[in-house]
Amino acid sequence: MGRISYVNGRYLRHSQAMVSIEDRGYQFADGIYEVIAFYNRRFLDAGPHLDRLERSLRELSIPMPMGRRALEFVAQEILDRNDRNDGTLYFQITRGVARRDHLFPKNVKPSLVMTVGGMRSPKPAEFENGVAVIALPDQRWARRDIKSIGLLPNVLAKQRAAEAGAREAWLLGEDGMVLECAVSNNAIVNAKGEVITHPATHAILGGISRHVMLGLARGAGIKAIERPFSLAEAKAAKEAFITGTTSNVLPVVRIDGGAVGDGRPGPVTKLLQALYYDHIFKETGKRWN
Ligand code: PDD
Repeated sequence: MGRISYVNGRYLRHSQAMVSIEDRGYQFADGIYEVIAFYNRRFLDAGPHLDRLERSLRELSIPMPMGRRALEFVAQEILDRNDRNDGTLYFQITRGVARRDHLFPKNVKPSLVMTVGGMRSPKPAEFENGVAVIALPDQRWARRDIKSIGLLPNVLAKQRAAEAGAREAWLLGEDGMVLECAVSNNAIVNAKGEVITHPATHAILGGISRHVMLGLARGAGIKAIERPFSLAEAKAAKEAFITGTTSNVLPVVRIDGGAVGDGRPGPVTKLLQALYYDHIFKETGKRWN
């Protein structure tokens, strides 16, 4: 079974899955996306991901290309048509195809694309020993809560991090506060063992794994505080970590070359990581370790 992708009502061989050069996603980044992980061919947190997809569309006045039930049906169908047990389902919805004009086109149907792909997860050693990050100024627009396909600043930040030997870029607001990362959210743990993460305002993408992590922390009696923290506070923190669909809970042990805490993943991070693996197991039957 080859790779099959969905484009506007058709299931196609991936190499033949195409959109028009006048798609507004291509010309204006006028669209949104979602990434849902699956394990054992079962989706992880599909409900909250699709809620966020609908919200992103509403915020941009792009209509749903089909009803929610139909979208769920196609998502399952595309999974069934691809021969992959673990991976990610990528959704992209744009305002549609129209002659180039900044104004919203009239009577145009949104374009919907779905593809199934691999995970690009961190390596087992990175989950166990932690990763390095660098801090960079955030160059994105003011509505980062919308999962827009306009990802150029994220691409540049992630590339700069990789060139500096780091897994992620921690993005800083103009006031020096840490917002989130190029492709994930982040949190620190203070000396009292409390988790601190930026609130889900317009300044960050409200990550689904961030939300799950907060629930798991609180359920385990860990105090989780949603407030901005500075880069200096992060560098002085006991622990730090990243959350995201493909990074789960990933320890951060170096920021800008300096060790976080004792330079090894701390107990709160390890507990949250274990709880997150349990969450994956409960939802999909997949054991991470
Ligand atoms: N990225 N912040 C940003 C900027 C992101 O792009 C992502 C996800 C997250 C984490 O969100 P979630 O926990 O819902 O995955 C936070 C996806 C995976 C991507 O762009 O591939």
